[in-house]
Amino acid sequence: MPTLKARRDEALGGPPGQVRVELASVTKRFLSPTGTVFTAISDVTMSVGAGQFCAVVGPTGCGKSTMLSMVSGLDRPSGGAIRVNGAPVRGIVDGVGFMFQADALLPWKSVLHNVSLGPTFHRMDKRQAKDLARDWIRRVGLSGFEDHYPHQLSGGMRKRAAMAAALINEPSILLMDEPFGALDVQTKAIMSDELLTLWDQSRPSVLFITHDLEEAIYLADQVVVMTASPGRIKAVYEIDLPRPRGTAQQLRFHPRFVELQRRIWESLRDEVQRAYQRSATGTPVTAAEGREL
Ligand SMILES: Nc1ncnc2c1ncn2[C@@H]1O[C@H](COP(=O)(O)OP(=O)(O)O)[C@@H](O)[C@H]1O
Ligand SMILES: [Mg+2]
Repeated sequence: MPTLKARRDEALGGPPGQVRVELASVTKRFLSPTGTVFTAISDVTMSVGAGQFCAVVGPTGCGKSTMLSMVSGLDRPSGGAIRVNGAPVRGIVDGVGFMFQADALLPWKSVLHNVSLGPTFHRMDKRQAKDLARDWIRRVGLSGFEDHYPHQLSGGMRKRAAMAAALINEPSILLMDEPFGALDVQTKAIMSDELLTLWDQSRPSVLFITHDLEEAIYLADQVVVMTASPGRIKAVYEIDLPRPRGTAQQLRFHPRFVELQRRIWESLRDEVQRAYQRSATGTPVTAAEGREL
C-alpha cells in the first residue's frame, strides 16, 4: 500500500526537484506601540526543493522565527509572497509538520497520547493510531515511556516525543525553529543524528532555523545566511558533504566540513557582531532602516 506521503505527493503531482516552499521578496513590518514601523525581515527570496534539507542561520533577532511563522501560516507577510506546494499560504497547510524550541507536547497527556494525537485528529481508528504511535515511540528510542507524562521526561526525551508526534503524520514539509536549541551540546548532537536518520527514511522537505552554524552544516543540503536585523538573505551555500553523514561528532573533523564552516563563518561573523553590538549598546534599528521598504 502506498504510504501517506506517497499518496500526498502523488496528489500534489510533484516530480522530484519541485519547489515545496517559496518566499518571494518577503518583507515583514511590525508597528510598535509608539507608532514607529520596525522592519523585521526585508526582501527575502529563497526556496526549498522537494526532499531538500535547508537550514537558515542568522544572529539572534534577525527575523528567523518571524520568517518561519509566516511559512507555517501563523502570521502573514507585509509584502511579497509565500507559497507552499505551489499555493499561497492562507493558514496551516495540510501535510506540513512543525517543531519549535518550546515543546509542543500537551502536559496533561501521556507520551502515547501525545504521539497518537495527529493520526487520531486525521480520523484514524483509535487502536490503529495507538499501534502506530507505539511504533514511532520505538523508532525514537522511547519504548517503555509510553505512559509517562512530559514532565517525567528529560529535555532530550521530550524532544524525541515531539519528533515522533511530528513525524507520525508523515509530513512532506517539516518546519523546525531551533528545535534542539534548549538542549546541552551532547544531547543536541545526538538529536541531530537521530533527526537525520529519520529524515533519510522519508525525505520530507525541511526548513530548519538555527543560530548554530555547525548544526546547520551537519544537517543541511543548503545553508542560507541571513544578515543582522532587518534580516535579508546574505548568501546561500550548497553543502556537498556526502550522505549518510555519520554522527555529528565524526563529521566535525571531516576536512570538507571544516572548510565549509570556515567559509560560511566568514559571512556570518560580521552579522553576529553587528547584532551583538546593537544589543550591547542598546542601539535600536534606525528609523531609516525601519522604513526602508
Ligand atoms: N509580534 C511582534 N511584534 C513586534 N516585533 C516583533 C514581533 N515578533 C518579532 N518581533 C521583532 O522582530 C525581530 C525578529 O524577531 P525573531 O524573528 O524572533 O528573531 P530570531 O528568531 O531571528 O531571533 C526582533 O527584533 C523581534 O523583537
Ligand atoms: Mg527565533
